[in-house]
Amino acid sequence: MNLSHTLQKARAYESHSLAAIPETQRPVYHLTPAVGWMNDPNGFSWYQGKYHLFYQYYPYDLRWGPMHWGHAVSTDLLHWEHLPCAMAPDTSYDGAGCFSGSAITMPDGRHMLMYTGVARKEQPDGSWKEFQTQCLAFGDGENYEKYAGNPVLDARHLPEGGSPADFRDPKIWQEEDGSYRCVAANRPADGGGSVLLFRSEDGIHWDFETTLDQSRNQLGGMWECPDFFLLDGKALILTSPMNMCATKDTDFHNGNGNIYLTGSFDAVKGQFIRESVAVIDHGLEFYAPQTLLAPDGRRIMTAWMQSWDSCTTPVRPAGAPPWLGQMVTPRELSIKDGKLIQTPVRELANAHTGRVAHSVALSGEAQLPGVEGRILDMTVSVKPGTNGYDTFSIFLAADGQYETVIRYHRASSTLSLDRTYSGFCRDVPHQRQCAVRDAEGQLTLRILLDRYSLEIFVNGGEQTLTNVLYTPETAEGIRFACDGQVQLDVEKYTLAR
Ligand code: FRU
Repeated sequence: MNLSHTLQKARAYESHSLAAIPETQRPVYHLTPAVGWMNDPNGFSWYQGKYHLFYQYYPYDLRWGPMHWGHAVSTDLLHWEHLPCAMAPDTSYDGAGCFSGSAITMPDGRHMLMYTGVARKEQPDGSWKEFQTQCLAFGDGENYEKYAGNPVLDARHLPEGGSPADFRDPKIWQEEDGSYRCVAANRPADGGGSVLLFRSEDGIHWDFETTLDQSRNQLGGMWECPDFFLLDGKALILTSPMNMCATKDTDFHNGNGNIYLTGSFDAVKGQFIRESVAVIDHGLEFYAPQTLLAPDGRRIMTAWMQSWDSCTTPVRPAGAPPWLGQMVTPRELSIKDGKLIQTPVRELANAHTGRVAHSVALSGEAQLPGVEGRILDMTVSVKPGTNGYDTFSIFLAADGQYETVIRYHRASSTLSLDRTYSGFCRDVPHQRQCAVRDAEGQLTLRILLDRYSLEIFVNGGEQTLTNVLYTPETAEGIRFACDGQVQLDVEKYTLAR
């Protein structure tokens, strides 16, 4: 296989830099780029006995640049091994970037990547225009060769009014009858976002089927990184809308958001009928989720643990590690009462060590023996004590200088997060809140901490809040507080390094 100069250069650069980043400057169970910048998860798939996770990648700097595909493999979805950069922007059709996409195993055993090629072309008037097309690459799990017939989907496949400049992020899957489908994001004539469905007999030659759904300029602008699958009797679209506006009666926040649409899908008519729209993750950093169907039938989702708005300004404090961008802890998805439930992959239990458990009546503030640390999986349950309570708080990643606060407000049944004192040195958002089920003062929070992150799973995964932290690892205190009385149960595991 002939490796282009651009790919060889990226591989040489990253192998040299990989060795220079100590393991102590990386999370323990979250994927980070080999070096430099990472955004969306790509090509999340199971291939030849391993999970493969590719990512949008610019090795040479801590900011977005001409997109490559970084690559890592894992057997447990938590501990990742970096493989050489899989693709570089090195052809006429993807020279401005190999944008997001997905992966699948072909019947002949090859791993096929389907991605967006971005090309900039000079126009007769001297201006430059971008074109996005869908392309393929075939490989053995380490080296990939771009398909000679690329692109396989371009402007000719778009419905009327669809923009060839905003046509990206193909997510491919195979149907039971052996045929293939993919969804891709497009900007329709109204300037919003849409999810297009395509069909192929062989995974290579594609036809447009239908527009599954669109924003109609109500749910943000361009919808990025769509995913589409059936789960527990519902059809689900996941997508990440750009330029959302917060509204008073929703949990949406401004900027790049993340939503899931539930509905039904009529495969004969190719029609998705939308029933509901909701936020996937309520935290400060969660974008561009992608799922895979594991061999054991689980629908597992990962996502970029970052927000576009907070990386336009250098938010990292001095001494932060030489990479930017992480993936969230992969989550098992299910549907309960029409709503998405997310739980950390069960593999996490294999990394549990050092169990500490307490069951105490709490009034005021308390620290519990052995409940501290920064790399952990902790479940906290509260129910009202004899005198009841209005607010219950957990302070973590805390010492005299730092703390991050999770607080439950009983009257409004909202959970808030405040990481103002977590080590950031820029004025990006540091607070979020979301409505949670009002269960008469009972609440369960599962909290995952790693060196640079905090993920919260509320009431068995009914809501999640995913956040980056830049708190020094020495700030490892945890305190609990309430303004009345609660019965508090805590079970904490350290996660093996
Ligand atoms: C989403 C996104 C995708 C695109 C990629 C480029 O974060 O904008 O739509 O393919 O990032 O890096």
